[in-house]
Amino acid sequence: MIEIVNFDNENLINEIQTLFSDVYKQKNELKSEYVNNPYTRIYIFTEAGDIEGLIHINDIYDRYEINNIYVLEKYRQRGIASKLMEQVIADGKSKYITNITLEVRKDNFAAINLYKKYGFLEKGIRKSYYNGIDGILMEKEMM
Ligand SMILES: CC(C)(COP(=O)(O)OP(=O)(O)OC[C@H]1O[C@@H](n2cnc3c(N)ncnc32)[C@H](O)[C@@H]1OP(=O)(O)O)[C@@H](O)C(=O)NCCC(=O)NCCS
Repeated sequence: MIEIVNFDNENLINEIQTLFSDVYKQKNELKSEYVNNPYTRIYIFTEAGDIEGLIHINDIYDRYEINNIYVLEKYRQRGIASKLMEQVIADGKSKYITNITLEVRKDNFAAINLYKKYGFLEKGIRKSYYNGIDGILMEKEMM
C-alpha cells in the first residue's frame, strides 16, 4: 500500500527518520525539511504495517523534482521502487505537470536503470558533484 506522509504525524516522521537514516543523516532532518519547504512530499510503501520504501519529491508549480527514492535493503528487487515511481507519475499526470527531474550518481546503476525504465533521459552532467563522482541530471517529459 502506498500513502502520502502527513507531516503532522510526529510518530510517523520519527519512524521514517530512524528507518531511513541513510537518507536523512542529520538529527531531525526530515522534520526541519518540511518546515523549510512546504512543497515537499513523501510517499511510503508499506506492507503489513512495515514501511519498506519511500519516494521523496518536491512539488514545484508545474513540475516535480525527485529528492530521493529509497527501498530498505532487504526489500529490494521486488518492484517496490517501481510501484512508488508509478504512483508519482500517475499523480503528476493527473495534475498536468510538465516534467519530472532528478539527479543521480553516475555509478548508481540500479537507480539509473530504474529511471530509464520509466522514461527518464540523461540531460546533463554535474562534474564531480558527489565527492569526485559525476552526477547525471535526468528528466522525464510529461507533456
Ligand atoms: C534504486 C532502488 C530504489 C531500486 O529499488 P527496488 O525496489 O529494488 O527497484 P525495483 O525492484 O522496482 O526495480 C525497478 C528497476 O530498477 C532496476 N534495478 C533495480 N535494482 C537493480 C540492480 N540491483 N541492478 C540493476 N538494475 C536494478 C531495474 O531496471 C528494475 O527493473 P526490472 O525489474 O524490470 O529489471 C534501490 O536499489 C535503492 O533503494 N537503492 C539505494 C538508494 C538509491 O540509490 N536511491 C537512488 C538515489 S538517486
